[in-house]
Amino acid sequence: MSKKKKSIFDFYKMKEAGEKVTWLTSYDYPTAQFAEAADLDMLLVGDSLGMCVYGYQSTVPVTMDQCIVHCEAVRRGAPNTFVVGDMPLGSYQASDAEAVHNAIRFLKEAGVDAIKLEGGVRITNRIRAIDEAGVVVIGHIGLTPQSSGQLGGHKAQGRTAETAKLVVDDALAVQEAGAKILLVEAVPPEVTRYIANTLTIPVYSIGAGPYCDGQLLIVSDLIGQFQAFTPKFVKKYCNVAEIITKAMSDYVADVRNGQFPDDDQYCYKMIAGEESKFLDAMKK
Ligand code: KIV
Repeated sequence: MSKKKKSIFDFYKMKEAGEKVTWLTSYDYPTAQFAEAADLDMLLVGDSLGMCVYGYQSTVPVTMDQCIVHCEAVRRGAPNTFVVGDMPLGSYQASDAEAVHNAIRFLKEAGVDAIKLEGGVRITNRIRAIDEAGVVVIGHIGLTPQSSGQLGGHKAQGRTAETAKLVVDDALAVQEAGAKILLVEAVPPEVTRYIANTLTIPVYSIGAGPYCDGQLLIVSDLIGQFQAFTPKFVKKYCNVAEIITKAMSDYVADVRNGQFPDDDQYCYKMIAGEESKFLDAMKK
């Protein structure tokens, strides 16, 4: 029986029932298929694809067109999973109209279920405009990688009483503006717990501790594919970099030693009796 796709209402019921939502990033068709088979609740086609797929130094260069193409692939791979498109830097900052236009592109061109955008108090007009256009908005506060320059790098947020209050202000503003879910990144667990207990919308964590309604990880970290660095909060469940490198170096050795291909891999042999006819024909 195929998996039943969850809706935003299921996520509200899960918060109510104390059931945790499972969320991972995905950027391509095969990984989305694996996620659907693993019964994951949600997928995020994050602008982290800039680093995890394209090898950029940050998410800054990622464009709308790149995000749409990857969302389309993920949608095809996971038709029964709630898919979230991530609005890249430059796609929603300039005006409400541009934000709404780009949010709707995600739905029309890639068939996603929701969009995510970074920022708290300063981005509430955009959240309100996109929500009023009928698109499910997921807010993202705490460490917001697109503005890491202003944050002084990829640093945890809300570690003092004063800055924790600013994170809570952001959370309340995002909910008030119409976001249906909130993602909190790299914030102390005490602060996340306060936010999850205060907000009526589901609150999910990436590197913000266990006291909330669900967890997100970057799939490339979880499977040991992204090599540049691994954030402290990540749990690596396997090391595909090692597995794939070993498979490739075994192949290199086999080809060089004449062990690939061998008789088991020759699939298109000549039809019986045709080889001698072929060789005769070549002599003429
Ligand atoms: O792009 C992404 O994967 C994200 C996560 C870091 C939350 O926004």
